[in-house]
Amino acid sequence: MKNVLLITSSPRGEASHSTRVATEFASKIGGQTVLRELWREPLPAIGTDFALGIHTPPEQRTEGQKAAIAVSDALVDELKAADVIVIGAGMINFGLPATLKTWIDYITRSGLTFQYGESGPQGLVTGKKVILVLASGAVYSSGPFQAYNHLEPTLRTNLGFLGMTDVETIWLEGLVYGDEAVAGAVARADVRSQELATSVA
Ligand SMILES: Cc1cc2nc3c(=O)[nH]c(=O)nc-3n(C[C@H](O)[C@H](O)[C@H](O)COP(=O)(O)O)c2cc1C
Repeated sequence: MKNVLLITSSPRGEASHSTRVATEFASKIGGQTVLRELWREPLPAIGTDFALGIHTPPEQRTEGQKAAIAVSDALVDELKAADVIVIGAGMINFGLPATLKTWIDYITRSGLTFQYGESGPQGLVTGKKVILVLASGAVYSSGPFQAYNHLEPTLRTNLGFLGMTDVETIWLEGLVYGDEAVAGAVARADVRSQELATSVA
């Protein structure tokens, strides 16, 4: 049985397409799922305690630094325990929801999730399957807004840096263009979700 980490992040909450499709996808795999609802329980943005704490030996950390690093350690453990990571995200101002950016900030840890070796940086979170479920108002797969897509490329860059290179995307796009466009995007996403779930399970 697969261990699944399901991360949902769209600030649109219950109205979110990415949250719904990501949640359904995780249940289709049928593994042991850990749910991290970043939209419902946002992590505190990283601050000086985290940024200075990661470069301070554990025994010399202040109480604030210990608390910030404990949050990060728990998120890293949660990530490493998963075989499959499903991330739902709606595009916000061409990029990630802030809560998801914060999650990336916490899991990107030198010595824990990446390290610098003789041949440069090396990701330490390997052997994972990642499914991105992304939603956007406009269309980014083709047309004039392609270069404005800082959602999927950013996620792939950050996850790839940590060693997660086996990444598939289910994208619901063009959702501002009316009911018909939404229905089409949802139907295509559901088909892709079913196909991927069969290959992952
Ligand atoms: C604050 C905010 C900013 C948004 N910014 C963009 C954007 O830059 N580009 C875009 O195509 N859609 C944008 N949208 C539309 C969302 O991407 C769209 O509603 C999508 O369905 C959100 O994902 P969800 O359905 O999973 O919540 C924005 C929506 C909100 C609420």
